[in-house]
Amino acid sequence: MNAIVCVDKNWGIGKNGKLLFNIPEDMQSFVLNTSYKPVIMGLNTLHSLPGGKPLKNRLNIVIAPEDEKLPESVVHVTNIKELSDYITKNDLVDKAMVIGGGMVYNTLLPFCDYAFVTRVDIDGNADTFIRNLDNLDEGFMFLYETPSRTVDIKDTEENIHAVSMQYVVYKNILNDC
Ligand SMILES: NC(=O)c1ccc[n+]([C@@H]2O[C@H](COP(=O)([O-])OP(=O)(O)OC[C@H]3O[C@@H](n4cnc5c(N)ncnc54)[C@H](OP(=O)(O)O)[C@@H]3O)[C@@H](O)[C@H]2O)c1
Repeated sequence: MNAIVCVDKNWGIGKNGKLLFNIPEDMQSFVLNTSYKPVIMGLNTLHSLPGGKPLKNRLNIVIAPEDEKLPESVVHVTNIKELSDYITKNDLVDKAMVIGGGMVYNTLLPFCDYAFVTRVDIDGNADTFIRNLDNLDEGFMFLYETPSRTVDIKDTEENIHAVSMQYVVYKNILNDC
């Protein structure tokens, strides 16, 4: 499986249960990279989606406590063992995309082959972070990046900033495939 995430310059990913930024181009890239695939997310990320509804055209697998009532279309798993059993039994391991949030990335990144990271060169004052994949101790190696470009992004307070962003790919060197 692989992970897809958008980070700020401090590897921040969210604030107050929401994304740090609205970046239409990155959303398009997210849709392209995840459509018709199984996506794995935590309960808080499900709640953060528009209307708290699962993503369309994707099999939504949500890690959430047992007593949570989730939408019917969602596959509800309560821990990593159940997740692993489900994706293995259904032959989804290679196709699955880990889509957040912080708890889920930090638990599942060691099991991902690649991390597709959108890097935004601004401090989003996040309250949720992922591990710094540039730190080799995390087990990931920088593979390639697109040239950086300046785009307009909207922050959580609807302020617009022109910032540099790029797509970066990291390969897991401990979980070698
Ligand atoms: N920038 C991005 O690309 C991106 C993508 C997705 C989300 N986000 C942001 O990330 C934030 C949400 O992240 P978060 O860390 O608060 O929540 P999260 O990872 O989405 O979900 C946490 C929930 O999932 C359950 N869970 C997660 N890992 C588990 C595990 N290994 N075993 C059992 N249960 C597990 C937790 O259960 P318990 O309650 O039992 O602990 C908790 O209820 C939001 O701000 C969201 O917007 C950013």
